[in-house]
Amino acid sequence: MAGSREEFGSRIGFILAAAGSAVGIGNLVGFPVGAAKNGGGAFLLMYALFVFLICLPVMLAEMSVGRHAGKDPLGAYSKLTGGAWQWKIAGWLSIITPFMIAVFYLVITVWIFGYLFESASGNLEQLADPNTFGQFITSETIFIYMVAVLAIVYCILQGGVRQGIEKAAKLMMPALFVMLLALVVFVLTRENAMAGVEYYLIPDFSKIDAAVVNGALSQAFFSLSLGMGIMITYGSYINRRADIPGSAKLVALTDTAVAFVAGLMILPAIFSFDPDIDPSKLSDSSISMIFTFLPKIFLALQATLGYVGASIVASVFFLLVFFAAITSIVSIFEVPVAALIDEKGVSRKAALGILGLLLALLAVFCALSFGMVKFFTEFTSYADSTKSFFDVVYDVFYDTILPLNGLLICIFVIYRWKKHNFNAELDQGAPKYKGSFFERYVDISVGTFIPVILLVIFVNTVAVKYF
Ligand code: PHE
Repeated sequence: MAGSREEFGSRIGFILAAAGSAVGIGNLVGFPVGAAKNGGGAFLLMYALFVFLICLPVMLAEMSVGRHAGKDPLGAYSKLTGGAWQWKIAGWLSIITPFMIAVFYLVITVWIFGYLFESASGNLEQLADPNTFGQFITSETIFIYMVAVLAIVYCILQGGVRQGIEKAAKLMMPALFVMLLALVVFVLTRENAMAGVEYYLIPDFSKIDAAVVNGALSQAFFSLSLGMGIMITYGSYINRRADIPGSAKLVALTDTAVAFVAGLMILPAIFSFDPDIDPSKLSDSSISMIFTFLPKIFLALQATLGYVGASIVASVFFLLVFFAAITSIVSIFEVPVAALIDEKGVSRKAALGILGLLLALLAVFCALSFGMVKFFTEFTSYADSTKSFFDVVYDVFYDTILPLNGLLICIFVIYRWKKHNFNAELDQGAPKYKGSFFERYVDISVGTFIPVILLVIFVNTVAVKYF
């Protein structure tokens, strides 16, 4: 229909697309390792509470604003405030942040794609070599992989909402669930696997301190794709009759479930590889886990499964992570694309072309940040250390501005757009929420303690990161 905004074709399509955005590298690797190191079941419990008590209300705020305005984040802030300049800043932050996060996330996705390619070609021995990762990220080959990943993202997004984003999510998400479950079953039947399950799940409340609480909340916030304009943009593609609270709850549940189940894959795998391992000594970063530690496990599988069997397991793992990363990157890149289409009236193809080139350029700068070019490797320095271009993008946009964006949407929804409009939007398509306890909780939390918590995180990050 000319003139009307494209919509998701079905409720399940929307839920899978939003869950596709939420489920990413953070769920598959970051969460399991974080939980295992920081109190196991205690961390899990705290994470789940944060998801439902703090992140879900913010997700509802974002989706409601998006659907009500029927626009990209910049257009939404502007439309609902009559173009007030202060809120334009919030709008700009909500499109620049996802664009810049897309830049570094693209680089990581490219590495995953490279490892997928290598494990499918049977090069496990090479992948397990401790020097391979360093060589791989500084080799020219990654630019070839980058072109391939950009082409995949382009193909999905040029199909638009229904034929592109929704179709990809409907294909990739069920495949992701199946691969995850298959790997979990496989890993749990290995020797010593149960030691890993125990280590992962037995709660240790003594490990929970302020830093762990902060880490769990930041992880939950990032994992649900909040503060990046994504849920505003996807919200703008939801049908007026759709039940926003019901869908958002399912997205939060899926995201948490995948994070939890991923732990049943990663920790038992580590223990069956080495029963005497001390996982608290594992590196914190998901990156070193994926690219240096797990390949060793895949190589060790050759002893029992043979060359082909081990390569298949490794390929399934990297394909799983790749699907998770692609559905996330599609969602985050859609934000600036939607903004250019909505605000400047350009075609989807043109928006994708222009922003795709810019994304590629900045991603190349990021990719050159690991030693290939000194200017990008030693880009600047703060807090007494040298930072690469990649580090700066990560620190500024992911670590610092995300909570600020979350804070702004909360203040906006309750104090500027106003509670009654927010509630009317939530009830639209879901009248059972009208005046319910759930809705009152959402209003109060979004209007009071959630923005305060996000403010504390923001101020703390600024103080710790840059001074
Ligand atoms: N939710 C993703 C994760 O857990 C994060 C993300 C979402 C990153 C969207 C980029 C784009 O990894």
